[in-house]
Amino acid sequence: MIGKKHKNYLFPSLQDARKRLKKETEQIRYTLPVHLVGIGNNKKYLIKTYGCQGNLADSEKMAGLLETLGYRGVIDEKEADIIILNTCAIRENAENRIFGELGRIKTLKKYNPNLLIALCGCMPQEENVVFKVLEKYPQVDIVFGTHNLYLLGEYIYEAYLSKEKVVQVYSKEGDIVEGVPMKRAFSQKAWVNIMYGCNEFCSYCIVPYTRGKERSRNYHDIIQEVLDLTRSGYKEVTLLGQNVNAYGKDFIDINYTFADLLFDLNKTEIPRIRFTTSHPRDLDNRTIEVMALQGNIMPHLHLPVQSGSNNILKKMNRKYTREKYLELINKLRHYIPDISITTDIIVGFPGESDEDFTATLDLVDQVDFEGAYTFIFSPRSGTPASKYEDNIDYTTKKQRLYALNKLVNEGYLNGNKRFEGKTVKVLVDGFSNKNNNMLSGYTEHNKLVNFAGNETIIGQIIDVKIEKAYTWHLRGIIE
Ligand code: 5AD
Ligand code: SF4
Repeated sequence: MIGKKHKNYLFPSLQDARKRLKKETEQIRYTLPVHLVGIGNNKKYLIKTYGCQGNLADSEKMAGLLETLGYRGVIDEKEADIIILNTCAIRENAENRIFGELGRIKTLKKYNPNLLIALCGCMPQEENVVFKVLEKYPQVDIVFGTHNLYLLGEYIYEAYLSKEKVVQVYSKEGDIVEGVPMKRAFSQKAWVNIMYGCNEFCSYCIVPYTRGKERSRNYHDIIQEVLDLTRSGYKEVTLLGQNVNAYGKDFIDINYTFADLLFDLNKTEIPRIRFTTSHPRDLDNRTIEVMALQGNIMPHLHLPVQSGSNNILKKMNRKYTREKYLELINKLRHYIPDISITTDIIVGFPGESDEDFTATLDLVDQVDFEGAYTFIFSPRSGTPASKYEDNIDYTTKKQRLYALNKLVNEGYLNGNKRFEGKTVKVLVDGFSNKNNNMLSGYTEHNKLVNFAGNETIIGQIIDVKIEKAYTWHLRGIIE
């Protein structure tokens, strides 16, 4: 089932999106259809991206597609002929922000009646969002989801031609489309998708529904992409997947895992390799052993724990225990002694008692995370946890988040402090967002560093001596 048809519209269904059919993933090769050539000539686009790195990578593909159609990018929204909101559905407040933004940009149509507004990404994969948009946001011209972004040109063509709303959201489990042109946001560091979708079904999470089944890219394509990036002067790749440790599990005739991919990329000339996100259940010994080879594999791991309580981990369907997680951390530190470990934590999950929350604080204390993204549980319609009784009042949830953040911030500071007085390698990103006279970049351990310097070194890896550590960044001088 691709989606539910109504008039010319194709609607999603979260229920259908849950299905995982035993069918080999289809590999499609993108080619630019002749009738689309030049439809964007003299026109301008603006893409606003919300959410995770997966969306950032998707936006680079949409930018690439638009540029091959003739469009040029702009920063000023008043100049745009098409504005695309690439959306995130992970928590309710992310969605509310985007609905607010839709309301705000509506007025731009007064100045440019030909402006097209498109909504794509994870939000349209939820049927209630599509119904709400049709009912309350007539300013939206094009709605499509995560599985068919490579058809963006067709949808724009249809919108120009028919002047009718285009709604094309697939709920089917998804294919892999190779060869989509990309306009990358940076020229020194690149996202590289290694897989799409997620089969974990953590009970709180909407992603397995919005992104479909787990499907891995052919490793020859990935390695070739990294080789091409290296040749073009890129210094860092981040391998992307919702659960990179499940890479290759969907291959039918081949036995090739994430550890194999990391091992093969370790032998290439790309100076830095990162990857995200890892799942504690699937992070295997071999991957840790390959990480220990170091070289271009960076000594940082983002390993979401979500909770320190076995009771809550079970309800979250995380499929590991607190003890198993701590064992993994010990193993990681044994093989890669100076590794920096960061995590994600949810507080206020239904049924989380004071003891459960204390167990989370205790785990954070024990692990010495050097950073954590922390969230209050947000019920997502269609997921099992949205039906669990939410028995914790909002004040308690806020208090728990506050207490957790206090501890987490100490971890950030301690993690930064260990580099005071040391010389570290920094990939220079550009001028600092907060201070135009300072350059900024990231260390091998993924620490943000600010330092004085000139633009000629942007994109290079340089030595910086760390003078002072703060909670959110380091300050240094070029050696
Ligand atoms: N509520 C709160 N946080 C969530 N996350 C995922 N789903 C939810 C939800 N429903 C968090 C998890 C995940 C991160 C990307 O977002 O911590 O690791
Ligand atoms: Fe969501 Fe869990 Fe999949 Fe991560 S692993 S995307 S939290 S279902």
